[in-house]
Amino acid sequence: MKSILVTGGTGFIGSHTVLELLKKNYRIVVIDNLRNSKRESLKRVEKLTGAKIEFHQIDLLDKPDLFDLFNQNNFDGVIHFAGLKAVGESVEKPLLYYSNNISGTVNLCEVMLHHNVKNLVFSSSATVYGNPDQSPLTENSALSAVNPYGQTKLTIEYILKDLYRADQNWNIALLRYFNPVGAHKSGEIGEDPTGIPNNLMPYITQVAVGKLAKLQVFGNDYETHDGTGIRDYIHVVDLATGHLRALEKLKENPGIVIYNLGTGKGSSVLDVIHAFEIANGIKIPYKLAPRRPGDAAVCYADVKKAASELGWVAEYNLKDMCRDAWNWQTKNPSGFN
Ligand code: NAD
Ligand code: UFG
Repeated sequence: MKSILVTGGTGFIGSHTVLELLKKNYRIVVIDNLRNSKRESLKRVEKLTGAKIEFHQIDLLDKPDLFDLFNQNNFDGVIHFAGLKAVGESVEKPLLYYSNNISGTVNLCEVMLHHNVKNLVFSSSATVYGNPDQSPLTENSALSAVNPYGQTKLTIEYILKDLYRADQNWNIALLRYFNPVGAHKSGEIGEDPTGIPNNLMPYITQVAVGKLAKLQVFGNDYETHDGTGIRDYIHVVDLATGHLRALEKLKENPGIVIYNLGTGKGSSVLDVIHAFEIANGIKIPYKLAPRRPGDAAVCYADVKKAASELGWVAEYNLKDMCRDAWNWQTKNPSGFN
C-alpha cells in the first residue's frame, strides 16, 4: 500500500502524519479546504523532508472535484482526517457539523467505492465514549454522543461499519484518539488554533508566551487525586506513527478494526500545569474556576489492543509533550502566520 490520499492533511494531526509517511517513502497526495489550517504547514514538512508534496485545495463536499482527483490517481488507500472538531461550535451550528463531517465522509466513501479503493483509516475520537463513568476505556466500552461533534464521529463509525457489512472487501481502521498534544521536535509544525484555544495545552502555551493572562482550571471538585479533570494526553508524533501501523494492518485484510490511541495514563489538569512548569522552567498563572459543562471527570484509554494487534505503543511522556508544545509556540508565537 504505497499511494495514499490524506484528507485534512494540512491540519494539526494530518501534517505530522504526512511527515511520518514521507519518512517511510509513501507516495502521498494531500487535500484540504484550508478552513482550519494553512498551506504553510506542508511547506514546513517539505523543508523538513526535502520532498515535494502534491496538494489540492478540495472540499469533501465538492464531489466532482473528488471524482477528478480519483480519476487522475491510483490510490491504494485513504487516511481521512478532514473534519470540523470544535465541540462548542458544533453545539451552536449542528447542521454545519452534520453536513461537513458526515456528508463529507459519505462523499469520500462513494468516490472510493466507485474507484474500487477500499482501504480507509478514519480519525475517530474518544468522544464516542460520551461522558464515561469508568476508565480505562476499552474498544468495547459503551458508546454515546454528548454533543453534535461527538454525534458526527459516532454516526460515521456506524456508517463505516454498515459499509463493511455490505461489502467485506473494505478494510477500515477506526482510530479513537484521546487528547493529542505536543508538536514535532523541530518546532516547525504544531497546533495552530484559530482564536482563543478551547483545549488545555494550547491555552497553557499561549499563557506562557504572554498572549493570554491566566489559565482557568475548570473544576477542582471532581473525584480525582487533586480534584481536577483527568485525561489521556498523547504526543501528536506518537499518534502519527499509529496511523502508519494502521496502514500496515490494513494490508492483512482485517476487515473493520477499532483501536484506542492513547498512552493509557491519566493526567489531571494540575499534573499538566506542573509538568509544563518543570519541563520548561516557566510558571503558569492559573485560577480555579467552575466545572465546564459537559466535561467528564476522568477519561483515559486501555491501550492493550493497539499494542498487541498493531505493535504500537506511545513513546513520549507528558514532559516531552510539554517541551515540544512550548518549543513550537516559542518558535511560532503567531502560529503559521
Ligand atoms: P485540524 O482542524 O487541524 O485538521 C482537520 C483538517 O480538515 C483542517 O485542515 C480542515 O481545514 C480540514 N477540513 C475540514 N473540513 C473539510 C472538508 N469538508 N473538506 C476538506 N478539508 C476539510 O484538526 P486535527 O486536530 O488535525 O484533527 C484531525 C481529525 O482528528 C479530525 O477529524 C478531528 O475530529 C479528529 N480528532 C481530533 C482530536 C483533537 O483533539 N485534535 C481528537 C480526536 C479526534
Ligand atoms: N481545561 C481547563 N482549562 C482550559 C481548558 C481545558 O481546565 O482552559 C480542562 C478541561 O476541563 C479538561 C482538560 O482540561 O479536564 C482537557 O480539556 P480539553 O479541552 O483539552 O480536552 P477534552 O478532553 O475536553 O476534549 C478533547 C477534544 C474533543 C475530544 C475529546 C476526546 O477537544 O474534541 O478530547 O478525544 F472529543
